[in-house]
Amino acid sequence: MKDANSPHTAHEHQRDSFGSSFGVLVALAGSAVGLGNLWRFPYLVGENGGAAFILIYLGFVLLIGLPILISEFIIGRRSQAAARGAFRKLAPDGRWHVAGSLAVLCCTLILSFYSVVGGWGIEYLIKAFRFDFSSGNTPGMATMFSDFATSTTGPLICHTVFLGVTGLIVIMGVKNGIEKFSKVMMPLLFVIMIGLAVRSLTLPGAKEGIDYLFRPDWSKVTSGTFLAALGQAFFSLSLGSGMVITYGSYVKKKENIVKIGTETAVADTLFALIAGCAIMPAVFAFGISPGEGPGLVFTTLPYIFSQLPAGGVVAILFFLALLLAALTSSISVLEVIVAFTIEEFHLKRKGAVALCLGVIWVLGALCSLSLGVLGDFKVFGKNIFDLFDFASANVLMLIGGLLVVLFVGWKLGRSVIHDELTNSGGLKIPVWLLDTILFLIRFLAPAAIAVIAIFQWI
Ligand code: TRP
Repeated sequence: MKDANSPHTAHEHQRDSFGSSFGVLVALAGSAVGLGNLWRFPYLVGENGGAAFILIYLGFVLLIGLPILISEFIIGRRSQAAARGAFRKLAPDGRWHVAGSLAVLCCTLILSFYSVVGGWGIEYLIKAFRFDFSSGNTPGMATMFSDFATSTTGPLICHTVFLGVTGLIVIMGVKNGIEKFSKVMMPLLFVIMIGLAVRSLTLPGAKEGIDYLFRPDWSKVTSGTFLAALGQAFFSLSLGSGMVITYGSYVKKKENIVKIGTETAVADTLFALIAGCAIMPAVFAFGISPGEGPGLVFTTLPYIFSQLPAGGVVAILFFLALLLAALTSSISVLEVIVAFTIEEFHLKRKGAVALCLGVIWVLGALCSLSLGVLGDFKVFGKNIFDLFDFASANVLMLIGGLLVVLFVGWKLGRSVIHDELTNSGGLKIPVWLLDTILFLIRFLAPAAIAVIAIFQWI
């Protein structure tokens, strides 16, 4: 019988949460590891001269990315609320909740084009199964890709399937959907990527690729290298978009924020390096220039698969990995928007997912069509796809990241940070470490964000 005095009425049902520390880690790492690692990182390394870029990137992840990640974690876990509600709960007086709304907007834009690229992944996995890359040259592969991406029906179907699968996982909830899926897929992804890296590293001529990745050539470094590295650190760690706030809100008080945050950053970086090892040695072994740009994954690699002994199997594994990585990220982006919708509009999870999917399907369809039939429609000289990409990755994520560190560093302040990082004194974290983190959150991270923002927008 239902007790009328039960603390959990229909409205205040218990919030979902992660079941274990490992679950939190794989979910966070699952969000961070995505197209950013398998597609964006390798081509940026290629365009920016290899090892020197990687070293700068590592420095930025540690000194700037990690403090922002920790700040978002503090906001989420302390408030136990979704992106907008989190700011409202911790600072009911100000207008800080606008930062939460911007994060939700940012995720809406990200998911719209991310789902289109995820859809391309589905098409390429099917192509791999059909051995469509069994013969070909680079121009042929480039035509194959642009023919597909600019067409109407195929990409829309793939976008629908990708978004549908993302929605199915999120409907099942945090513990039974997101956590369970990530727990199985992340280890699988890791194994596949290691396998691909071994295949690539054992090719004749692989050594040049290894040198490229690990022997820095500082003469290639320009101010653009620093900007690209910092932007990539933001994108790859999914910062400034409410993801860590939302996942952090499903984390229990006993977890160690500094430890899980560091492990997430290490896992994300490790995946990027493994992806580099899977791609660059093969690129060099086949005498291709590493600076091929964004087409690297969908045109250069299929060409390599066509030439490689047993390339058909390698192609299947690569696009399977790409798809898994994209899915564990897309579920996190959708969860930010769904958690917000549940909380703000008092909807059930199912209804919230349906509503969000409807909106994102339409926006994503516009992104996809903007590469083909809607190509002439431009805003600020960009088609819708590029506009969403730019507005989220280059504008909203930066503003979001800046607001987060200012909020935690200056509004919440030192005692709250200490309290959260030590779990109210339960964890022994050395004072010098706490003070270093505080310094990075208060000064270095905001300054670095301001610098990239100024360079990007001017
Ligand atoms: N980090 C993801 C990747 O590397 C992409 C991403 C960017 C993201 N911003 C996000 C994921 C916000 C979740 C939330 O592919």
